[in-house]
Amino acid sequence: MHKEFETDNATMDEAKEAAERLSFYPMMFQAAMAMNRLGVLQKVSDAGAKGISSEAISEACGVSQYGVETLLEAGLSLGLVKLVEPYTYRIARMGAFWLKDRQTIANADFIQDVCYKGTFHLDDAIKEEGPAGLKELGDWPNIYHGLSKLPGRSKESWFKFDHHYSDQAFPHAMKVVFEYNPKTMLDIGGNTGKWSMMCAKNNPDVHMTIVDLPGQCGLAMPNIEAAGLMDRVSTHPQNVLDAEYTLPNPVDAVWMSQFLDCFSPEQIVHILSHGKEALAPDGRLFIQETFWDQQENATATYCLHGTSLYFTAMANGNSKMYDSTRMEQYVEQAGLVVEKVVNTVGYFHSIMICKLP
Ligand SMILES: C[S@@+](CC[C@H](N)C(=O)[O-])C[C@H]1O[C@@H](n2cnc3c(N)ncnc32)[C@H](O)[C@@H]1O
Repeated sequence: MHKEFETDNATMDEAKEAAERLSFYPMMFQAAMAMNRLGVLQKVSDAGAKGISSEAISEACGVSQYGVETLLEAGLSLGLVKLVEPYTYRIARMGAFWLKDRQTIANADFIQDVCYKGTFHLDDAIKEEGPAGLKELGDWPNIYHGLSKLPGRSKESWFKFDHHYSDQAFPHAMKVVFEYNPKTMLDIGGNTGKWSMMCAKNNPDVHMTIVDLPGQCGLAMPNIEAAGLMDRVSTHPQNVLDAEYTLPNPVDAVWMSQFLDCFSPEQIVHILSHGKEALAPDGRLFIQETFWDQQENATATYCLHGTSLYFTAMANGNSKMYDSTRMEQYVEQAGLVVEKVVNTVGYFHSIMICKLP
């Protein structure tokens, strides 16, 4: 069962304070990013329990004392640092996570490098039903057409964010999928080929086909070649939104990981219908998603609701992180049957296993 951040149990004062804090979130987030990227927080952390003066940080980081103190005062309010004595700071427990936790870093870099500027256009994106913020990164109809060419840090941060979540789920997911012993599998939205290569390496009988946009298939090919898996992993460039197409068939399994969240409900039904056509009579279609209603804690749900805003402002303006009930409706509209849903695949994912009626 999902949990959300509950402010109705708060006192009036606490609820007002939460609202006031919200108005400063964007600037406070920038301060926290600057503390990391200018090396200020690292210096505070290195100093240990005795702490370090703002003057010493200023010298070590080559940033004015004014700048260091302004950032660290924001850090005090954020809970990233503590004062040991006036103008001498030590790291706080939250600051240690902000500095070193892989998941927090993947999230923060994604927000900063991919989403931050573009999200300023969120209201336009909602009105236009298109990714009005994407122009901050490049001139494409949606982000997927630009993935292989994203500018500056945004490319690394996009892939780090995407892979962080799917990577930790894949080993658990493999156990779920290979219970069905598939010999042929389509990996739709296979991206850089991580899942397909992992399946091929661990299951000598399976043949994998990555279906993705041409640019992505181009990025996956050298990885497959380097892994020596050219005979067991193929690519099939295909825009799955094309009105008419046929996928390689019949296959024992169709796999879609962190994929359907990239599309609108109508598009999901269209894609699932094509996946269904590719299935062998006893085949299974596996949907791996992070459903926001299936998270064990409110923070995971919060991050998924935030990720939906990326889909709105930056990705394509019409997709989101769905809840499991909605996804089940789309599966049924495509003429498939949900056989079962396996929750807690890794920390955040579920796998919806679908079959022909
Ligand atoms: C969020 S990534 C998922 C990557 C991977 N499956 C995973 O679990 O990490 C979505 C993938 O869908 C692909 N994609 C987006 N739109 C597509 C389309 N219209 N046709 C084919 N692939 C598409 C993107 O290129 C990208 O590789």
